[in-house]
Amino acid sequence: MLTRRTFAGAAGLAAAGIRMMSEMAYAQRAAIKLGNLPKDMVWLNANENPAGPPRVSLQAMAEVMPTAGRYHYQEYQDFYKLLAASEDLAPEQILVGSGSSEVLHAAVDAFTSPTRGMVAVSPTYEGPVELTRNFGRQVITVPLMKTWSADVKKLVEEAEKANAGIIYLCNPNNPTSSVTPKADIAWLVDNLPKDTVALIDEAYIHFGETSQLETALGHVRQGKNVVVTRTFSKIYGMAGLRAGFAAARPELIKKMEPYRNNVISIVTVRAVLAAIAEAKTILPERRAALLKTRRELCDWLRERNLPFIEPHANFMMIDVGRDARDLIFAMPPKGVAVGRHFPPLTNMMRVSIGTDQDMAKFREVFWSVYKA
Ligand SMILES: Cc1ncc(COP(=O)(O)O)c(C=O)c1O
Repeated sequence: MLTRRTFAGAAGLAAAGIRMMSEMAYAQRAAIKLGNLPKDMVWLNANENPAGPPRVSLQAMAEVMPTAGRYHYQEYQDFYKLLAASEDLAPEQILVGSGSSEVLHAAVDAFTSPTRGMVAVSPTYEGPVELTRNFGRQVITVPLMKTWSADVKKLVEEAEKANAGIIYLCNPNNPTSSVTPKADIAWLVDNLPKDTVALIDEAYIHFGETSQLETALGHVRQGKNVVVTRTFSKIYGMAGLRAGFAAARPELIKKMEPYRNNVISIVTVRAVLAAIAEAKTILPERRAALLKTRRELCDWLRERNLPFIEPHANFMMIDVGRDARDLIFAMPPKGVAVGRHFPPLTNMMRVSIGTDQDMAKFREVFWSVYKA
């Protein structure tokens, strides 16, 4: 049986190890696997993409596999060039990592210190925040506003007071699936305290449904004190392949570079290259499929008068009107795993958007547990 103790134990495990950041999702999943769970579990707990890697990436990986006995180091320079060019950047403006976890980690290493901590919105993705805390460095949190967007004025104010090294902001935000408007991001960038870096995590940037959402890469191109992180784990469906990158002006990239630990595998390199070559078709197709399924879930919730935060990522937060752990722990034995608990939003449950079939099962199990 999955108990609150096993779940909390996994969360504690993640918080305990300094190098655990990228393993948090695995720790959580491992905890849910404890006990006799149905074989046909629907996993809606880690914001993965059920479509998996694009077909062209599968082909590219199959082609390179027989030669994976070689390091292929001679290909990595071109890989950087092509990846950077895909976002109108120069190779020296990016840093590739084993998932965006690695480059977020490198940013924390490079821009925080025993005397310069982090200011972050709350709640948000725990990875960089917990890493900073695990280093024993200061973390100041600033609650999201009523609109669920970041309070940029307060973030800057706190960063000034604390002489923070990083302001961490996730846009769209995990777990709320909400957006901080482009004008607020611009204000934040223009008003950053000297030497404070805005670390803007755009893991879910492709899923927004508002003109208020805009990538901060423009600020990177203008040479501002901004680091943007991106991942191939979400819209590209490559979470298990571990690829992501940071974009920033070359001087900031150079500061982060020494803290990288991994060279991503040639299999992953080829998968990413194949995917970005077809991005103009892959991204809109995947986005349209996700938006359709997400809208259907929103309609279903509205029909039942269940409040939720307007979603802009491949997951959404539903207000279940009571401690969400009642549902979070009751659903896996019935075949559906949903996201972890995100205090202080105690009554909210995060669900990732899966296939239409996954969501039909979600609706059935959710409703039976919710009504019980
Ligand atoms: C906001 C955010 N950033 C970064 C990550 C790390 O993902 P990855 O290391 O797979 O790129 C996640 C994972 O779910 C996330 O939600």
